[in-house]
Amino acid sequence: MKILVTDFDNVVHEVPAEADWPIMEAIRGAGLPIKAECGGCCLCATCHVYVDESWAGRVQAMEDEEEMMLGEAPEVRPGSRLSCQIRMTPELDGLMLSLAPVY
Ligand code: FES
Repeated sequence: MKILVTDFDNVVHEVPAEADWPIMEAIRGAGLPIKAECGGCCLCATCHVYVDESWAGRVQAMEDEEEMMLGEAPEVRPGSRLSCQIRMTPELDGLMLSLAPVY
């Protein structure tokens, strides 16, 4: 399976993603610039991404923890998610998202 990640230069990267792993791990594993400082514990908001609107509603719903932590992230928009909280599934094969700025 794969996800399509747009970087800060608008370059789209096809990134392999393993089932049941957080997509943050796939993005980080591909060497793309995502900080993910807390390692996926939902404690930092530095794994912020924008899920493409064409995928809205297909990604797992947000838990309260993620919603609270996302409130700390800069430039939150519709489609904002913490990528460590999205688990890869076959339904998400081809998921399109963009990296969000981290300061
Ligand atoms: S890696 Fe820290 S919240 Fe996702």
